[in-house]
Amino acid sequence: MDRSHKPFLAVLAGERRDPPPVWLMRQAGRYLPEYRAVRARVRDFLELCYTPELAVEVTLQPIRRFGFDAAILFSDILVVPHALGAEVRFAEGEGPRLDPIADAADLARLDLARLHERLEPVYETLRRLASALPEEVALIGFAGAPWTLAAYLVEGRGSKEWLAPRTLARREPRLFASLVDLLTEAVVEFLSAQVRAGAQALQLFDSWAGVLPEAELERWCLAPAKRIVAALRARHPEVPVILFPRGVGAHLARFARETGAAGLSLDTTVPIAWAAEAVRAAHPLALQGNLDPVALLGPEQALLEEARRIRDAAALRPHIFNLGHGVLPPTPPERVAALVRYLKSAGG
Ligand code: CP3
Repeated sequence: MDRSHKPFLAVLAGERRDPPPVWLMRQAGRYLPEYRAVRARVRDFLELCYTPELAVEVTLQPIRRFGFDAAILFSDILVVPHALGAEVRFAEGEGPRLDPIADAADLARLDLARLHERLEPVYETLRRLASALPEEVALIGFAGAPWTLAAYLVEGRGSKEWLAPRTLARREPRLFASLVDLLTEAVVEFLSAQVRAGAQALQLFDSWAGVLPEAELERWCLAPAKRIVAALRARHPEVPVILFPRGVGAHLARFARETGAAGLSLDTTVPIAWAAEAVRAAHPLALQGNLDPVALLGPEQALLEEARRIRDAAALRPHIFNLGHGVLPPTPPERVAALVRYLKSAGG
């Protein structure tokens, strides 16, 4: 693959680009009227994820509208628990609901055997996207990290504290380790199949890594991330992996040094200049981020100043411009357009 035509992949290979390539987490979603129109055609959200024709369409919507440098597969991290046999429902306006895993019998109901069969529509979506995307736009596949998936499976729903998984991990570490091992294997298989279907880069979302202290983080987040990156590098050495261990602060340095990831995505709380210093030993490692998604809800002038500050602070590293978390539903699309226009105008 010739990376020079795709700025996003060039940066993940260690090049610095000015202007930096840009895409936004959750760039497809409810803030776009064209997404809401497609969403209205299906009963539930998972149906959208499993209908290639519609998933391709909503993946492409932000590419057409804004001209991002990368398209992220339209899907959800919870398709993996679903494909393992867990009940997953998206109740309108309430977020995800799962049947909570509490003991070994619950865990035994999860099964890798039908993983690829159930995820086949996701692979079909990627195959179609790989041939539909403009030459200069990279295609990103993704998965939830084992800890974050385990957290949803054990809690049964979203949470701020995640007491159920944190307690289970301490009371029954062997059971919890079996769950995390199963998820690690599923994630490797899922991401590898995404590459075979056309994904050119992969992102691992560990959205709730930030609730764990160091020893737990090491066991449930860092160690699985190492295994996943190593397994993927062995199978697909040319495909870069970006890690997004959200909320881990000072521990980012270990994710940079110890995992072999090509990119590290920063949440909004991390000063990007500090991160550049903290990951200096890891070469070449791209940083991604980390504009506050709420900046897109405020006045345009302040938004562009904040974007410039981040671009300049990251100028010494390979940098991919992104948010520190996903685009929020009340975001005006014209703010996103203004942000991309600003970043693409040479010299800002
Ligand atoms: O554009 C993209 O970034 C690609 C698609 C994508 C979605 N979810 C679509 C989605 C991606 C990469 C995700 C990742 C995801 N999903 C994460 C990790 C990133 C993060 O935000 O921390 C997590 C934790 C989830 C789980 C999830 N999915 C929750 C908690 C929710 C409900 C919250 C909400 O916004 O409603 C979802 C649903 C979801 N996933 C929507 C979209 C567009 C909204 C559902 C709808 O349209 O009805």
